[in-house]
Amino acid sequence: MNVNYMVSLIAVIALFLIAYVGVELGRLQVLFGVIVPYAAVIIFIGGVIHRVIDWARSPVPFRIPTTAGQQKSLPFTQHARFDNPFTAGGVLVRMALEVLFFRSLFRNTSANLDPDGKLSYIWEKWLWLGALAFHWSFLTVLIRHLRFFTEPVPLPIQVLEKVDSFMQIGVPGLFLSGAVLLAAVLFLFLRRVWIPQVRYISLAADFFPLFLIIGIAFTGILMRYFTKIDVVGAKALAMGLVSFHPVLPEGVGGIFYVHLFFVCVLLAYFPFSKLMHMGGIFLSPTRNLPGNTRAVRHVNPWNYPVAVHTYEEYEDEFREKMIEAGLPVEKE
Ligand code: HEM
Repeated sequence: MNVNYMVSLIAVIALFLIAYVGVELGRLQVLFGVIVPYAAVIIFIGGVIHRVIDWARSPVPFRIPTTAGQQKSLPFTQHARFDNPFTAGGVLVRMALEVLFFRSLFRNTSANLDPDGKLSYIWEKWLWLGALAFHWSFLTVLIRHLRFFTEPVPLPIQVLEKVDSFMQIGVPGLFLSGAVLLAAVLFLFLRRVWIPQVRYISLAADFFPLFLIIGIAFTGILMRYFTKIDVVGAKALAMGLVSFHPVLPEGVGGIFYVHLFFVCVLLAYFPFSKLMHMGGIFLSPTRNLPGNTRAVRHVNPWNYPVAVHTYEEYEDEFREKMIEAGLPVEKE
């Protein structure tokens, strides 16, 4: 049993209990319905700004785009326009393909050692498919949730709701994106525990967000299809939060507050976790620089002379100790 996995699971169960017991027994609606959500949003916004400024201030003295194809070169060589973009426009297309369709993940392979010792590389399509299903369904659920925060609900959100529940299974109609989200996040979790190599490198920081998102999707589905929440009350609370006139309606029970609390924890955790890859991808020099080193001379922007510590100086500093330790020195 992976200890990281247990720690994360226990943490998420504890969070569940804190919110559920806090609301059902402690009547702490003000804490979980007002204070925690505002605190989470402030931490999220502040944290993201901090991380982005930190990245933006990091010097990028070299051209280091990942080159997955031929750079624009002599006229007779074929240029890989998206895998080695030459212009800002090319970078934009490459970035869009990456952000929207996870192109680099699509090209991923996994190494396989057969029992007879033969090494082969297999196209790793399942991770790509699972990741795509997860991110797109998450986005759809998020956009759909805007119906709780807007009045009147904008037409595009109403249309999205209709499209998402077009199969008309049960009452209330099944939202495909919610079901796909739960299935995809469960798949991503099972992949981590089933594949020994992936399990070996998985940390609590990998499992925690997965359990948290499983918890969010699970409590959401529970509310909508099973325990039946008072949606009008939930909307009143959400509208109260965004209009800065918080209200705490009766009739929204513990599970709703758990759902909201999980979301708040996710928001507050987001800027300090691996989930920041969402912002990092745009600021990644390996992705946002055009590969034009054959056409443009890039000069290191740092001013010379650069402070260096030469070997002579190093030896002068440590000669005695080096001799003592029996290390060879250039000057006795
Ligand atoms: C990361 C953000 C969130 C995620 C991923 C999420 C996910 C889900 C999912 C998967 C469902 C099941 C039904 C569906 O597919 O829509 C759901 C239902 C629900 N969520 Fe969320 N949720 C999030 C944030 C919130 C927030 C901030 C609120 C606060 C108002 C909220 C309130 C509700 C309510 C009231 C339902 C029941 C809806 C119904 O009965 O139609 N959720 N959520």
